[in-house]
Amino acid sequence: MYRIRSFEEYQAQYRRSVAEPEAFWGDVAASYLWKKPWHQVLEWNFREPDVRWFTGGSLNITENCLDRHLETRGDQTALIWEPNEPGDQPEFISYRELHRRVCRYANVLKQQGVGKGDRVCIYMPMIPDLAVAVLACARIGAIHSVVFAGFSAQSLADRINDAGAKAVLCSDGLCRGNKEIPVKAVVDEALEHCSTVQYVIMSRRTYWPVAMKAGRDILLDEALNTVGDDCPAEAMDSEDLLFILYTSGSTGKPKGVVHTCGGYMVYAGYTFQNVFQYEDGDVFFCTADIGWITGHSYIVYGPLLNGATSVMFEGIPTHPDPGRFWQIIDKYRVNQFYTAPTAIRSLMTFGDEHVLSYNLHSLKLLGTVGEPINEEAWHWYHTHVGKGRCPVVDTWWQTETGGILLSGLGGLSPMKPAHAGLPLPGVQPVLLSPEGTELTEPEAEGLLCMKAPWPSIIRSTYGDHERCRQTYFSAFPGYYFTGDGAKRDADGMYRIIGRVDDVINVSGHRLGTAEIENAINQHPSVAESAVVGFPHPIKGQGIYAYVITRGIIENEEDIKSGIIECINSAIGKIARPDKIQLVSGLPKTRSGKIMRRILRKIAEGETDNLGDTSTLLDPAVVDALIAGRL
Ligand code: PRX
Repeated sequence: MYRIRSFEEYQAQYRRSVAEPEAFWGDVAASYLWKKPWHQVLEWNFREPDVRWFTGGSLNITENCLDRHLETRGDQTALIWEPNEPGDQPEFISYRELHRRVCRYANVLKQQGVGKGDRVCIYMPMIPDLAVAVLACARIGAIHSVVFAGFSAQSLADRINDAGAKAVLCSDGLCRGNKEIPVKAVVDEALEHCSTVQYVIMSRRTYWPVAMKAGRDILLDEALNTVGDDCPAEAMDSEDLLFILYTSGSTGKPKGVVHTCGGYMVYAGYTFQNVFQYEDGDVFFCTADIGWITGHSYIVYGPLLNGATSVMFEGIPTHPDPGRFWQIIDKYRVNQFYTAPTAIRSLMTFGDEHVLSYNLHSLKLLGTVGEPINEEAWHWYHTHVGKGRCPVVDTWWQTETGGILLSGLGGLSPMKPAHAGLPLPGVQPVLLSPEGTELTEPEAEGLLCMKAPWPSIIRSTYGDHERCRQTYFSAFPGYYFTGDGAKRDADGMYRIIGRVDDVINVSGHRLGTAEIENAINQHPSVAESAVVGFPHPIKGQGIYAYVITRGIIENEEDIKSGIIECINSAIGKIARPDKIQLVSGLPKTRSGKIMRRILRKIAEGETDNLGDTSTLLDPAVVDALIAGRL
């Protein structure tokens, strides 16, 4: 009933979703299994903020992802797992088998005393146990917090401590491309700084020797031998927490974005079905990692809610060669393919021959996510991967939005390169001027905000609700502020320009500049630093660090590699700067504020046009920066 099959249907649903949101979302939600119906669809204000969907209702998302499919599609493949090495054995996990594995893993958690409301941190490579662990937590009402397994021990410890996690679920090691990460050893290092964790449950992946701490560490395989297949799904209130996912913002400390059970389920399922125009029997391949929101919503929850077959890939696009994605599409006859612009730009540089060597006829739709896609990459994707016949959906959304907000719907909507497009039903975007006035002309450029809640809007930042209010709801009272700037064309289609805050988007990974500066400042020879993004042909944005050192510097390269070490250990390799310029001063105003605008211009190479520099305390600093520019 809520499957949109034409542009007219989209328009009709959109109109209804704005005119009578409660009736609209009530109808969408009615297509799911509820243990107890809700008494009110929506209560909200953006002041506190306090947003509640489907209040009074109770459900378990895993019954909707798994149990409800057992009778109709128990033997259908739910997950196809493709290992890092193409020659290794893939896994085809049916809905029945996934249900069994989730129940057993959930019973292991219960055996250790993990239950409803407990926080569980999951730090794992892209192996089936990761999806199973996520669902096992949801099964028993434990709140999962998945941390991407490329983050350092220090980042992991910060996230464990912020969430007060009771257990950590991990693997022994991981191989991604040619890289190896001793996952369990990283967990051990992190746990030296954590006091809340009682148990570590470890899956075997690499079979590397690992230290096991008696009384704390449990081998999953052994524990599974002691439990049964039956695990009733915990009844969860619609607004009980489903998960926490940490993301970077303008301030130094990543924040735990909170999503709740009912609204997230309804929206993840609805958007998966409609944006990707998924048909029964299709094979869907999203290349994200489950450590990011894209993996949560469109590898695990969205596909499974729709009884889909979802591909989970352990490796990277260039291993063993840059044809790997195309080989996987060919091998599993993938119908919908969803990836990041940075991957497309990188694969483009290897020429067309890899794409041409595989049969991509199964493809019906292509999607992108995570950052703006430039027109050249869009056309290459459309022409060489989609052979000019697959629609491209450019999906704009955020960790905080839980699901896609702006996007075309399969081939139903008009498509314009580099434009995310129209809002989904229930989504009410507006563009504001910096003073907070709504720009009502059809064609406009401004700050992208939302003026009404959709079911999977962020509910809070874990442990600090005020931070949620401050970050998203205080800049423009009455609106959710996305942090992005956007343009709207005469047809109402949105084009995202990029972040307007101190967040940078490097290869689709979101990083706070303050977070990177904090890491750099840990180096004993660093006095001060300032980090900005600059346009990068493959990554979208690169990281440019200006660093003031103290004392006499004997060897600049040693300092730079020391700084990179600090970043690797505080955050992880994803935050490694592309350029580090050692400087003697930073452009500051008389009140001591760093003029980042100038730093960005210099990093971009726009040194002739620095704008207004009259408030600079010492204009000579700028000349020195330009002279030493990398
Ligand atoms: O700047 C926007 C960019 O990614 C940010 C959200 O990052 P994150 O929470 O990590 O979630 C990424 C995956 C949903 C946004 O504020 N972004 C995301 N999708 C697009 C995008 N920018 C342009 N076009 C997109 N399609």
